[in-house]
Amino acid sequence: MTQDIFNYDITTYDVNDTIKLGELLGKYVDKGDVLLLSGDLGAGKTVFTKGVVTGLGSGDIARSPTFVIVAEYSARIPIYHMDLYRLSESTMFDNMFLEEYIYGNGLCIVEWPNQMSDIFPDYSIKIHIDHIDDVTRKINIQGLDSPHKNLSEKLKKFQV
Ligand SMILES: Nc1ncnc2c1ncn2[C@@H]1O[C@H](COP(=O)(O)OP(=O)(O)OP(=O)(O)O)[C@@H](O)[C@H]1O
Ligand SMILES: [Mg+2]
Repeated sequence: MTQDIFNYDITTYDVNDTIKLGELLGKYVDKGDVLLLSGDLGAGKTVFTKGVVTGLGSGDIARSPTFVIVAEYSARIPIYHMDLYRLSESTMFDNMFLEEYIYGNGLCIVEWPNQMSDIFPDYSIKIHIDHIDDVTRKINIQGLDSPHKNLSEKLKKFQV
């Protein structure tokens, strides 16, 4: 069976718009969803994550988990925020450990997923952020339409 992919592009012109977009996503994701956030250093992956965490109803503030690899926040479902940027320098880490989060009972948000791209499921939602200038970011969101129907419909209506 082939599944349709939704593919959505938007440009944000300040930090708050990126947070708002993250919040929208946070309202429509569910247990077992995986968000893969790619883009250069300083693109806005952690800023976007802050929005998702708030959108899920958490009072926690997302910050870069670079030195702990996984930060956990509590919300209507648990959130596991990972930054794989320094993965190759880490010796205490293996795939099994990551898979427990991916196939666990919360939402996984992964910065720098390309460090281990082959372990993420097909149904992951891919968010790519391009740095255009100081305040402008081009954001692309792709995912399988069927499990994320509400999300793709809401994204179409989202305006900055
Ligand atoms: N439209 C925008 N959307 C998001 N961030 C923006 C925007 N305009 C400016 N910024 C700034 O860009 C920076 C994004 O930083 P952030 O930590 O989110 O990047 P990152 O992609 O997580 O980087 P890293 O790979 O180092 O983790 C922040 O300082 C933020 O204020
Ligand atoms: Mg970051």
